[in-house]
This record gives sequence, C-alpha cells and structure tokens, in this order.
Amino acid sequence: MSQYQTVCEQLKQNPKTWLVTGVAGFIGSNLLETLLKLNQKVVGLDNFATGHQYNLDEVQSLVSAEQWAKFSFIEGDIRNLEDCQKACTGVDYVLHQAALGSVPRSIADPITTNAANITGFLNMLVAARDANVSSFTYAASSSTYGDHPALPKVEENIGKPLSPYAVTKYVNELYADVFARTYGFKTIGLRYFNVFGKRQDPNGAYAAVIPKWTAAMIAGDDVFINGDGETSRDFCFIENTVQANILAATTQSEGAKNQVYNVAVGDRTTLNDLFNAIKAALNENGVIYTKASIYREFRAGDVRHSQADISKIKKALGYQPNFKISEGVLKAIKWYISGSDN
Ligand SMILES: NC(=O)c1ccc[n+]([C@@H]2O[C@H](COP(=O)([O-])OP(=O)(O)OC[C@H]3O[C@@H](n4cnc5c(N)ncnc54)[C@H](O)[C@@H]3O)[C@@H](O)[C@H]2O)c1
Repeated sequence: MSQYQTVCEQLKQNPKTWLVTGVAGFIGSNLLETLLKLNQKVVGLDNFATGHQYNLDEVQSLVSAEQWAKFSFIEGDIRNLEDCQKACTGVDYVLHQAALGSVPRSIADPITTNAANITGFLNMLVAARDANVSSFTYAASSSTYGDHPALPKVEENIGKPLSPYAVTKYVNELYADVFARTYGFKTIGLRYFNVFGKRQDPNGAYAAVIPKWTAAMIAGDDVFINGDGETSRDFCFIENTVQANILAATTQSEGAKNQVYNVAVGDRTTLNDLFNAIKAALNENGVIYTKASIYREFRAGDVRHSQADISKIKKALGYQPNFKISEGVLKAIKWYISGSDN
C-alpha cells in the first residue's frame, strides 16, 4: 500500500476538519471533492474572484448528501483578517490555495495580485497560527525558480523572479520560513508546476494553456502558441497535486516541516508536443480538429523551460505521482467534452 493510500485509510477511520481557501477554484474544488469523499469535515473560504459557484455545485453532485453536509462555505476575502480568523476556527489542517494566479494578470495589475497573494497570505498565516491549527500547507509556485537556468529544478537553487506573480509566491516562502523561526509555526509550501485537470477554467484572458487550447479546439477556433512552441513545462495532473496536499498536511515528521517541495511529475513536454497530444486525445473522443497552430510572440515573464526534480517530496512525504501527462490529458479532455472524466 502506498503512503497516500495508508493516509487516506487513516483519515477515513479518524476524520479531521480541514480549511480549504480558494475552494471555489480549480485546485481548491478538487481538494474539496477528495476530502469529502474521504468523509472529512471541510470549511471552504472564497471570494469568487476567479472561482465559481458552479465548481461547488459540481462537487455537490459528485458526493453523497451526507458527505456534502460536512462542508460549510464562508464567502469571504483573505485580504480581510477577520474572514481568515473565522475560517480557521476549530480547524485541524489548512490547505491555503486562495491567490490570484497568472503571470500576465500580475504584470497587468501588480497591486491587486500583491494584495491577495502577500497580504492575504500573511493574514492566513497569522489567523492559522493563532488558531493553533495542526498543519498549514500552502500553494507555492515553480515561478519561484525565475531565471535560474538549471534543469531539472531542485528546491534550493532559485533565480531572480521574472514577474510580480513570482515575487508574491517567493515572498510567501520567506514569510513561511520567518513564521517558523520567530513563532515556531512550521508550514509546508508546495511548488506546483503547471497543474491541469477538471474544473480548470478555460475562459478569460488569463486561462491556462491546457483548458484554453482544449476549449478552442472543441469550438473549432484557432490555437495560438506563444513563441516557437519549444517552450517546455512539467505538466502535473490534478490528482497528483491533491495527493501532495494530503500527504503534506498529515505528515508527522518534524523534519519534513518548514520546507518547500516541488510538486510535478518530473517530465518535460514542449508546447508543440502538448498541442499534438490534446489534438490526438480529442480525436480519440470524437472531436476532430484539423487546423494548424498559429505561432506568435513569446510572452513576457515566461520561463523558457521548466522541469522538476521530485526526489525531495518522494523521500520526505512518500509522494508518488500516479498520473503521467498523457493519462491526465485524456481524463481532462473527457471532462471538457462531456462534464465527466469517467
Ligand atoms: N494552476 C496551476 O498550475 C498553479 C501553479 C502554481 C501555483 N498555483 C497556485 O495554486 C493556487 C490555486 O490555483 P488555481 O489554479 O486553483 O486557481 P483558481 O483561480 O482556479 O483558484 C484560486 C481561488 O482563490 C480564490 N481567491 C482569489 N483571491 C481571493 C481572495 N482575496 N480571498 C478569497 N479567495 C480568493 C479565487 O476566487 C479562486 O476560487 C493559487 O495559489 C495559485 O497561485 C497554481
């Protein structure tokens, strides 16, 4: 039995109370679904900045009435300390996901990104520390590697941030470390590398590449590739990300805390290969896309290549990414076509 299966069994036997911030978003709603299916009690906090009520409605449709009754939702804002304090009351494990994602959004509006991602993060740290929660796990980002050229990325070697978003995610790590040193409040940061899967928003100017391209291909629209298509990413299916959060939140190892970990698969896929993989997966599911991709300028603030070394999280937390990109793309595409990934 894997470490993850063992932990899931233990949680079923001995349910806990979790706080998921950003619960109406992509990653938050997937965490909610898994936790409710494990019969956990979940408090969710979201201000619907980029999240949606329909994500919560979908989770409700996928769990039993009894499981759904274990969920309580607070519509609130992490920029407001009182909302954070209310959300942290009586909570065992915090999974802090709420933030404004997207490099281009942060370039267009650094002030709003800073407020949610830094002030909001600090509010959550203070509220969680004062509520004496058992663990605090937060969404960090591979953008923290910035201009460091080494591949694969190992946690201790970071470069200069390339965008305001990357600054905010790096500041999160600095605050987290200072909270361990000054207050003994130890957290775990998970540096996500391009997460994808069901409920990732395909709409809007700041949509991520997999949902954006999938939606465009289903609609028969043009697909644009920024740059020459040889930019590469370590795309990580959502189920792997959920696993990392649950392992981090429940770890009993003191040495595993006050650390940051890469969360990815350890592979690298170019945008050109991704385009072909999505096209092929759609084809397998009866959606035929015949257009060629259209190349345009490189995007400001983008890292050229990204690939994680995941040995640290494997060793410290027993993380085993069960889904490779091809399996994940197939599941995600089924959901974009039919609303179900089965
Ligand atoms: N998706 C990725 O590939 C990726 C990669 C690296 C890091 N991350 C991080 O993971 C986390 C979740 O990202 P996601 O992809 O699910 O994005 P998302 O936009 O789908 O979810 C973020 C959620 O946070 C909520 N939120 C934003 N500002 C808030 C505020 N001030 N108060 C309360 N709620 C607020 C939004 O409404 C939304 O529901 C973020 O911290 C993001 O920076 C994501």
